[in-house]
Amino acid sequence: MKRETQSQKDFNDKDLEYLVAQAALFQTAGFETSSSTMTMTLFELVHNTAIQDRLRSEIKEYFGYEDHISYERLQEMAYLGQVVNETLRKYLIAGFVERECAQPQSGEKFTLKPHYDFKVPSGMPFYVSILEIQRDEKVNICLKVPIKYWPDPEKYDPDRFAPENRDKINMDAYMPFGIGPRNCIGMRLGLLQAKLGLVNLLHNHSVAKCDKTIDSFKFDVKTPIIASNVDIYVRLQKD
Ligand code: HEM
Repeated sequence: MKRETQSQKDFNDKDLEYLVAQAALFQTAGFETSSSTMTMTLFELVHNTAIQDRLRSEIKEYFGYEDHISYERLQEMAYLGQVVNETLRKYLIAGFVERECAQPQSGEKFTLKPHYDFKVPSGMPFYVSILEIQRDEKVNICLKVPIKYWPDPEKYDPDRFAPENRDKINMDAYMPFGIGPRNCIGMRLGLLQAKLGLVNLLHNHSVAKCDKTIDSFKFDVKTPIIASNVDIYVRLQKD
């Protein structure tokens, strides 16, 4: 979709279907992803009140007494960035990315060596589990010295992304927006929407547990995206 362009004279019914499909993809890919990022963040903030307090202090500091916040101010909010990054590490929304093997025009066929002795046939689909990678403490397959990915991966810890810890992160193991030339086209908009929603909500409200708040959940097996198998409720409290 990103690479293809068409002149008006080539336009026909099939293209219209294609256009509608693209619009539908934008609607689904652009809405649920950001709203789930906000939901999962609020779920974690309810269970991690120190993180919520720190985030709300930053929001109040940057928001000030205005009734809106500018795009530039939003980008300056370092802790907000860390919180959203950590949500997308632990919950990542799209559990896997899909690719198809395209063989080089000439020369050696693509193989999985040195990890496996396997020649990949042309057209073979690959499913890369971002979920497994982003919740993996270490990867030690075929490596003498295990590479650290995410220590204590179930822990929600925005300080993983603090500037002083940047060099400890293996960014090859972080891909909530996919990877390569076909990664998410709406990454900046997605981050902006999620951050704006959180900032506007938490500016004058906190979130806390209520009777219906769950402590943990399993992933819903019936959706292609990462979602809870039960509804997530929190109590919204105005300051
Ligand atoms: C937090 C928000 C979002 C997350 C976590 C997310 C995640 C992803 C992921 C993992 C992929 C697959 C990339 C790959 O295969 O390497 C993807 C693709 C895509 N996303 Fe997003 N996305 C988000 C927001 C958005 C928004 C706001 C839009 C549009 C308005 C959007 C539109 C798309 C489209 C069109 C693709 C397919 C790109 C292609 O195949 O060339 N996404 N997204």
